[in-house]
Amino acid sequence: MNTMQSIASVLAVDDDPRSLTALSGLLGELPAIRVVTARSGEEALRQVLQSDFAVILMDARMPGLDGFEAARLIRERERSRHTPIIFLTGAYEDLSSVTRGYEAGAVDYIAKPPSPEILKSKVAVFVELHRKNIKLVQEIIERKHVEEDLRRSQDRLRALAVHLQAVREEEWTRISREIHDQLGQALTGVKMDMRWIFDRLPKEETALQEKALAACTLIDDTVEAVRELSARLRPEVLDQLGLAAAIDWQAGDFQRRSGIRCHVSLPAQVPPLDRERSTAAFRIFQELLTNIVRHAAATRIDVAMQSAPGGLVLTVEDNGRGIEAAALDNPDSLGLIGMRERVLPFGGHIDFTGQRGKGTRVQVTIPV
Ligand SMILES: Nc1ncnc2c1ncn2[C@@H]1O[C@H](COP(=O)(O)OP(=O)(O)O)[C@@H](O)[C@H]1O
Ligand SMILES: [Mg+2]
Repeated sequence: MNTMQSIASVLAVDDDPRSLTALSGLLGELPAIRVVTARSGEEALRQVLQSDFAVILMDARMPGLDGFEAARLIRERERSRHTPIIFLTGAYEDLSSVTRGYEAGAVDYIAKPPSPEILKSKVAVFVELHRKNIKLVQEIIERKHVEEDLRRSQDRLRALAVHLQAVREEEWTRISREIHDQLGQALTGVKMDMRWIFDRLPKEETALQEKALAACTLIDDTVEAVRELSARLRPEVLDQLGLAAAIDWQAGDFQRRSGIRCHVSLPAQVPPLDRERSTAAFRIFQELLTNIVRHAAATRIDVAMQSAPGGLVLTVEDNGRGIEAAALDNPDSLGLIGMRERVLPFGGHIDFTGQRGKGTRVQVTIPV
């Protein structure tokens, strides 16, 4: 809607019909203005209930409800609480009535008879103010709508991310089991057959025997590789023995592969965690370890898990170069963002603290 073109209403209140006609005529010269007239304070009150006015021109002296009293009542009403009121007063109005006027909520005075130019320019100022106000209110409403839309779309994206993660985790679990079971069983079968052949080979066929032994070794290595692959997709220990055991296993595996010393401190008793929470905590732990290898240049890691009143607290500390504040705020730090998002559905949070040259400490809290 184009508010610049909208009609603004001005209320003129005067018991003298000639004054009202003069006012209407003058104000009618202003563009896009509708002049509403009232012959008494009471009528003014009725008008104010029906419409919003940009400004009210109020004759101070009227029989019955006088201008000051009418202004006071207008100010008491929610709809007209902020409508500016200009009093029209006799030329030699005394000081006490001026004070009364301001108390009743006057914003200005014009002496009667008003000079056409002064009247028009004063009213024009308030009309302009009124239009700007309306525009502002509309902009605020629009912005609120936009904010609401953004918030909703953010909620939907979050829900989608949670869903995709769950789907991926299920898929990984399934593939991990299939690799482990089917491939593992097939390899065991091949190994037994190879053994059978080896046992029946004539002693003098040394070349064949060597080949058969080499094949057995290759099969053993493959079995091991399959086991690792399956565990990397979804460690069995997480589903069977729980988060603490899985973290312990992962830390050991990490130490073996990376050569970085890993000290793990686990509570004797861990409250039972559902699959979603333990999966989230475990994947975050893996991501933290990956980051340490990639970025920290650390030689030692301390891992601790506690169950605190706020929930489960996992702390991972390295003695590397220390994560920088810039990395924490960087919208490209997708790993960090992913970790933060992972705990949000549970109302959890992650705190990163980096000390240059001393290391990084990460605390993951997941309410249980
Ligand atoms: N343990 C750490 N020590 C030092 N810097 C780190 C550590 N973990 C993360 N960072 C910094 O934070 C950045 C963002 O990490 P992340 O979002 O996981 O992205 P990526 O690992 O893909 O670079 C990294 O590029 C690195 O600069
Ligand atoms: Mg990373």
